[in-house]
Amino acid sequence: MKLSKIAVFTSGGDSPGMNAALRAVVRAARYYQLEVEGIYRGYEGMIDDDFIPLDERSVARIVDKGGTIIKSARSEAFRTKEGRKQAYNNLQKHKIDALIGIGGDGTFTGLHVFNKEFGIPVIGIPGTIDNDIFGSDYTIGFDTASNTAIQAIDRIRDTATSHNRLFLIEVMGRDAGFIALRCAIASGAKAVMLPEKHTEPEALLAKIKLGAQKRKSSNIVIVSEGNKNGNAQELAQQLQLMDDSFDIKVTVLGHVQRGGPPSAYDRLLASRLGVGSIEALKAGKSDVMVGVLNEKMVFTPLEKAIKENHRISDEMMKLIEILSI
Ligand code: F6P
Repeated sequence: MKLSKIAVFTSGGDSPGMNAALRAVVRAARYYQLEVEGIYRGYEGMIDDDFIPLDERSVARIVDKGGTIIKSARSEAFRTKEGRKQAYNNLQKHKIDALIGIGGDGTFTGLHVFNKEFGIPVIGIPGTIDNDIFGSDYTIGFDTASNTAIQAIDRIRDTATSHNRLFLIEVMGRDAGFIALRCAIASGAKAVMLPEKHTEPEALLAKIKLGAQKRKSSNIVIVSEGNKNGNAQELAQQLQLMDDSFDIKVTVLGHVQRGGPPSAYDRLLASRLGVGSIEALKAGKSDVMVGVLNEKMVFTPLEKAIKENHRISDEMMKLIEILSI
């Protein structure tokens, strides 16, 4: 396949380390003497012809920056055939031979469909704080986001202990509980409520009451945004209705988890995956996601990365049960 010019974009929710991945894609492309165009605002910019030439100097001093300098968006227009045709016309206009998208599930679905419709080679790089992508142990941004959340939870613990309070702390993850699970273990939480594992509020209350009997002075429950029987606020109301003896407070951490400088781990992961994506294109690979499994770089067909689920580990769930007695 002809490979002289590639385009790169970030799409979906931003995540810390997306810039480091962009830098790695651009620098690796330049290292192998390829030209690069950046596309602003993901698929939206592809449709609106919002392209910018990038070279090795354009990505200087961004390895440490949160967010994404080429911006991100969730695009409705790209879901339509006309939108995708318009995007493809723009890629042709800019003489783009291959496309690299940094994002999550939605980004990969777009890349896969686009490749099937127009035959353009595509590679996906997993960039999302949610860590919900099959084919990589970690996604870019997850480590930073969970560390940010843990720092906040540690601070809340001080107040919870000083006042003997029960805190329900909501972390991000509309469909996935990876941030919640990691934070719950690392912050010593009493329990975790996830979209993937159903826990009845009654069972949660029983657990908290048992803790009170054992003279636990504070209780932290980590609630994933996408918890099936209610977010933190709704859950607090249900618990309060069942038992009004607890002093319950709710904190929603929200988008504070998405920003900030990426951790060393995320910078390294982003650098590896960025370079890996260019080397994959050079080796003739397409329609795959580059990921890291057991420390090794692996390529998973996009279709599989989209369809299969990254599963919550039962061993991790058991840790909470054992460590919160
Ligand atoms: O996918 C990343 C994520 O931060 C989820 O954890 C969260 O549910 C969602 O994006 C929020 O999206 P938005 O910032 O568009 O409201």
